[in-house]
Order: sequence, then structure tokens, then C-alpha cells
Amino acid sequence: MTDPASLERVRAEFLDELARAASDADLRALRDRYLGRKSGVVTSVMKAVAAAPAGDRPALGRLANELKRDIDARIAERREALAALGSAIPRVDVTLPGRQPLTGRCHPLTQMRERIEEIFLRMGYEVVEGPELEDDYHNFEALNMPADHPARDMQDTLYLAAPVVSESHTATVLRTHTSGMQIRYMQAHQPPVRIVSPGRVYRRDNFDLTHTPMFSQVEGLVVGEGVTLGDLKGTLASFARDFFGPDTAVRFRPSFFPYTEPSAELDVSCFQCGGRGCGVCKRTGWLEVLGSGMVHPAVFEAVGYDPERYTGFAFGMGIERVALLKYGVDDIRQFYEGDLRFLEQFPA
Ligand code: DAH
Repeated sequence: MTDPASLERVRAEFLDELARAASDADLRALRDRYLGRKSGVVTSVMKAVAAAPAGDRPALGRLANELKRDIDARIAERREALAALGSAIPRVDVTLPGRQPLTGRCHPLTQMRERIEEIFLRMGYEVVEGPELEDDYHNFEALNMPADHPARDMQDTLYLAAPVVSESHTATVLRTHTSGMQIRYMQAHQPPVRIVSPGRVYRRDNFDLTHTPMFSQVEGLVVGEGVTLGDLKGTLASFARDFFGPDTAVRFRPSFFPYTEPSAELDVSCFQCGGRGCGVCKRTGWLEVLGSGMVHPAVFEAVGYDPERYTGFAFGMGIERVALLKYGVDDIRQFYEGDLRFLEQFPA
């Protein structure tokens, strides 16, 4: 038995269930329930229509067909809506193991530089930085290296094609060392002076195991009344023990730098072999670490300090060099290649 009102009830029930269908599987079940060939609700409606009195059949048949098309169309529409929603929401597999985020860290050279700064800060030094584009006066002249000095040889110095004129100064070279900062600082400050100045320096060198055209240094300068060679030795020996380890022995070898007199190079006992001699120290038991000396009176004169009243010491060390020594790295270029397998060996 069927009539238009019972067809509308079927539609209402269907719509109710459709509203609750939340997945493809729900929709498939719904379709089976209403349009299934054997026992679908609409299928039995069709059978009832066929059994209705002949006069009612055409009208009921039209209504039943319309109901069937409506149900079919609404299920399809709903399926598309669910699919669109599904692709908009990223699927997360909560059973997958978590991904370890890559954490950044400071480059080994930055770590080295900070370690060096820290040691000197603790000794009461100030950290100051200077320009990498430098003029002839600060890089050479005021450091007692006149125009014909061999250190200015084109082999070593990178000259700028044309001078760079900025508000603060005229640059003609890429600084070949951080020593120019001694001059800049003394020009702007009166003694006492106690500074370290880290930064990049440049030289016309080809790449090999121990050379790169750019590297970094830390300059040190102490000036005051009654500063002695003993202060220099004590300071650098204390630095060496702090930086390389408490058992480090030091020795000073006479050397020459135009801006210091006397000049000395500092060697530390080889931490690889403890001074017995090995591959790292080339069988000498010692490693060359830095250059140093008592500030030359000509340097004081250049900055207007009275050399009769003040004395001081200075030193300069290569950051890559001490890093190579400290970590036993055999190729300086590794510091610049950005290879994570190398860099990850220096957890900060
Ligand atoms: N400027 C030297 C270099 O580049 C290092 C150096 C030596 C700095 C002696 C100094 C010093 O201040 O006194 O190799």
C-alpha cells in the first residue's frame, strides 16, 4: 500500500539520515539502505507502486521516480562535499614516531671566538670591533710599517681597486690583520687600555690545508704605566692554560714584528702527545699559537701617547689556527664548507 504522503515520509527519513552521514562508508550504507536492488526502501516503494490500483499508478510512479533520482543526487552531492573537506584537512598519522627537529648551533669558529672573548672578559678586557676595509695608515703606517715595508708586498695584501670613502674613513685595503684596531682604539681613548678585538682578515693566499684568503684573528692590547714583559708572559700563559687545558706548558720564542720590541711568539706544549713529540707537533713537542710583544715606542708616538710614561703589550692570534690545534682538525677549509657532518662535531 502506498500514497504520496508515505513517499514524503521516506524522503524526510532519508534526509535525516543523510544529515548524519559523516564518511564515505556512511554514504555507501545509506545508498544500500534506500537504493539497494533487493531490499532497498525505494525498491520496495517501486514494488508497491506496481501493485497500486491502475488509476493511481502513473501519478505515483512519477513521484516514486522523482524520489529515487533525488536520493541518488543528494548522496552524490554529499560525497563530493566530504571529499573536498577531506583533502583540505592534512592527514596526520598519529602512530608515526616523532620527527627530531634540527636544532641550530653556533659555528665552531664563533664558538672559538666566544670562548677566547670570555677568557679575556674575565680578566677585565673590553671587546671592540673594527672595520674590515682599512686604510693604509691604520693597517701599516702607524704600526711602524713604512711604505717600503715588505709586509705590504702585493703578494700578501688585497688592495681595493679604488679607495672606498665613507663617513668614518678612507679604505684602500682589506685589512691583513686585526692590529690596526690597536691604532683606532688608542686614537680614541686614553690609557689605561685593555682590549681584545676579534674579526675577519684577508690575505692573498691560495687555499690549502692551512691557508684561506679570509680568516679570523683576535688582537689584544694592554697599555698603562708600568706594564711589563712579565705581565705579557703571565697573561698569555694564563690564557693558554684556560684555553688548552690546565696542564699546558708554554714557552716564548724571540721573534720580530715591526710594531713590538721585543717581540715573541708563544708556543704551547702539544696536547696530543704531552710534549713528547708526535705528528701534530711535527715531533717538536710544541705548537705555535700566537705573536706578541711590547708595544713599540713608534706606535705610541703615532697615536700621541707618551712613550716615556706608558708601556704596553700586544698579541694577535688566528682563530682558525687555535681551533685547528684545539680540535686536531687537519684541513682549515672544512671550517668554510658548511658540511653538517663536520659542523655537528662541535656541539655548543
Ligand atoms: N699581526 C700579526 C699577524 O697578523 C699578529 C701579531 C703579532 C699581533 C704581534 C700583535 C703582535 O699585536 O704584537 O700575524
